[in-house]
Amino acid sequence: MKLIIAKSYEDMSRRAADVLAARVKEQPSCVLGLATGSTPIGLYADLVSDYEAGEISFADVETYNLDEYRGLSGDHDQSYRYFMNDNLFDHVDIDKARTHVPDGACADAEEACAAYEAAIEAAGGVDIQLLGLGHNGHIGFNEPCDEFPKATHCVQLTESTINANSRLFNSVDEVPREAYTMGIGTIMKAREILVVANGEGKADIVRRAFFGPVTPEVPASILQFHPNVTVIVDEEAGRLCE
Ligand code: GLP
Repeated sequence: MKLIIAKSYEDMSRRAADVLAARVKEQPSCVLGLATGSTPIGLYADLVSDYEAGEISFADVETYNLDEYRGLSGDHDQSYRYFMNDNLFDHVDIDKARTHVPDGACADAEEACAAYEAAIEAAGGVDIQLLGLGHNGHIGFNEPCDEFPKATHCVQLTESTINANSRLFNSVDEVPREAYTMGIGTIMKAREILVVANGEGKADIVRRAFFGPVTPEVPASILQFHPNVTVIVDEEAGRLCE
């Protein structure tokens, strides 16, 4: 694992954008695994700037997002599809037909998850997977539990995640209680993984995830077993790392 402690949120974002941009330039038809949350907003803005400066094209890129709320369709402003369009896809030359987010509007969980897993396989797998970190160590929506979930599946969100994400909804009651997410097995199959985290509030979980025991109680800790992981944090989030 390579740990980079960046000076600031802006520095973290730029460095992470550079890792993704380098991959796209080297392999224009690569498969990117993408993430939502507030952490990657800055790096997506940097990728948009790179595109506007004529430095990068997404024309042949294919993308698979980690997760989506069950019950929200893509036009809901809190859906992860909406987030991706708003922060990245609408501003670059990507072919929207090549961008994939689990179908939150599909009520049949088994069908939605199996279709997503099959589509990732058919695309040849994810070349580089971007991940944020939940305060409880979740990645995608893989919440702490007794065993690592393997494939894309439907999860019940924990109270902690519902509360954390309620800041983006009008009230906590509007936050969906379930989500579709890539499994830990799906994430671990990515050929390369890039984790970003910032702020004092992530310092403890960054330490536990990358320097603590590997346990499904801290889902991100499994990344210690992945052969090609880069973790980029700002100074605040990296404060407890030796
Ligand atoms: C959400 C997402 C995760 C994300 C996490 C952290 O629950 N499902 O993919 O990494 O929250 O979000 P933030 O970056 O806003 O701290």
